[in-house]
Amino acid sequence: MDEFFTRINQYREQINHKLAAVSNKTTPESFYAPVHYVMSAGGKRIRPILVLLSCEAVGGRAEQSLNAALAIEILHNFTLVHDDIMDHDDMRRGRQTVHEKWDEATAILVGDGLVGLAYSYLLKTNSAQIKDICDIFTSGIIELCEGQALDKEFENRFDIDLSRYMEMIEKKTAILLMTASEIGAIIGGADSNQRRILVEFSRQLGNAFQIQDDLIDIELTSGKTYGSDIKQKKKTYLFVHALNNASAAMRDSLIHIYHQNTITTDDIAIVLDIFEKSGTLTEARRVVDAGIKQAHAELMKLPTTTARSDLADMLDWILKRKS
Ligand code: IPE
Ligand code: IPE
Ligand code: MG
Ligand code: MG
Ligand code: MG
Repeated sequence: MDEFFTRINQYREQINHKLAAVSNKTTPESFYAPVHYVMSAGGKRIRPILVLLSCEAVGGRAEQSLNAALAIEILHNFTLVHDDIMDHDDMRRGRQTVHEKWDEATAILVGDGLVGLAYSYLLKTNSAQIKDICDIFTSGIIELCEGQALDKEFENRFDIDLSRYMEMIEKKTAILLMTASEIGAIIGGADSNQRRILVEFSRQLGNAFQIQDDLIDIELTSGKTYGSDIKQKKKTYLFVHALNNASAAMRDSLIHIYHQNTITTDDIAIVLDIFEKSGTLTEARRVVDAGIKQAHAELMKLPTTTARSDLADMLDWILKRKS
């Protein structure tokens, strides 16, 4: 595991160094200052590391996929900036969100600009399959937007069962991890079977990752707005499970709270109590664990390499994350 962290930290430093200089321009300042603010805010860098390791796991050199890795992370940052407007959140990565620090117009523009910058990096990729790579990247963006649309639509609905929830999170979250793995695999020269394995690995990981993110919403360590999903009436794994498994009284209480115009801090405490007493938190943790195990089983179908072992260690690291 020590060797894993040494290698991963080297990748992360390289990524952070490149992202801090995402563009060499500084004017117009109202655009470039927030762009640099977002790109130098840290973050776990899971998606670009997935690109690099997927490339290596099929016999490529990480270096070949570096521009694509940067492209995926820049794209991810675009989704975060716009997601924070959509979710009315004021904190991200322990700092003010862009629309809070500047304003909504700035945050919309920065998001747009980041999509352009993401493509400019992606197109630096030296691969005979660049068209395929661009197609996968583009359909990933479209699917992610569909997922974000479902996430918003579900705020006002109570008929969201587990299968609708899974469809929503696969689109809003897992898709970008799947895109990362698939592009890394293509650049590394994967055959169709290896490519399929890595996409499936990231589907399992991505879905578990979002359920874990739903749990992190009620952790003070997140660096994000505490209890945002509850305030925003999100149909998270926790809500969907509690609604189907809590006692009739708790269920009524949940429905009553989620029908109010605004949800107060006191309401959040009641909701958390319901999540706890209905066994929802325990079940959510079990499902995350099971998803990570499935991702691991998928990974083991690849040939033994250092990158495969790093991807396995990455699963353990993600499972223990607090932000
Ligand atoms: C946050 O992603 C958005 C989700 C899809 C849950 P991350 O948890 O990867 O955020 P950073 O990049 O590390 O801040
Ligand atoms: C993540 O959903 C999906 C995207 C950012 C595309 P969330 O809204 O749960 O992500 P966080 O919790 O704000 O990071
Ligand atoms: Mg959000
Ligand atoms: Mg959101
Ligand atoms: Mg969240």
